Amino acid sequence: MKKVLFVVLILGAIALAACGGGSSNAVATLAPVPAEFAGQTNPLGADAATAGAEVFKTNCEACHGSLGKGDGPAGAALDPAPKDLSVLQTTAGDDYLYWRINTGKEGTSMVAWKGVLTDEQIWQAVAFIRTLK
Ligand code: HEC
Repeated sequence: MKKVLFVVLILGAIALAACGGGSSNAVATLAPVPAEFAGQTNPLGADAATAGAEVFKTNCEACHGSLGKGDGPAGAALDPAPKDLSVLQTTAGDDYLYWRINTGKEGTSMVAWKGVLTDEQIWQAVAFIRTLK
């Protein structure tokens, strides 16, 4: 009986270690996009990136950095730190980015921008994030 408990504890510890952290910039499996947002693509297209650069500069750069690397001055003390969006955008769909910017990310300093930015501005920001390398 004791042995079984031990095995369960070890497995639990391994599972925790595998899921834990979360502060790393390595893009792990992304959370599933809620149905309300899933499958949406940017209605503005890539041209919106120019306007998006302005939106980003005004609202996002302080934390995410001018090139989206997560190295903005206001992000330095945050835990978790702002993500490197240039890495994230290689795996995240438009729907994922749009969802996160709209509703924010629970447990982090990423606030919901819906109501602060217009829908158009959020899609412009998504278009800009697409240009980050
Ligand atoms: C106060 C600092 C701050 C500001 C301002 C900010 N963010 Fe964030 N952002 C964060 C933090 C912290 C996270 C969470 C990082 C994590 O999950 O590890 C985050 C997460 C994100 C994510 C999701 C990352 C993921 O892995 O799911 C996106 C996309 C994003 N931000 C885009 C933006 C955009 C676009 C703006 C401007 C409209 C913005 N952020 C403004 C701090 C900020």
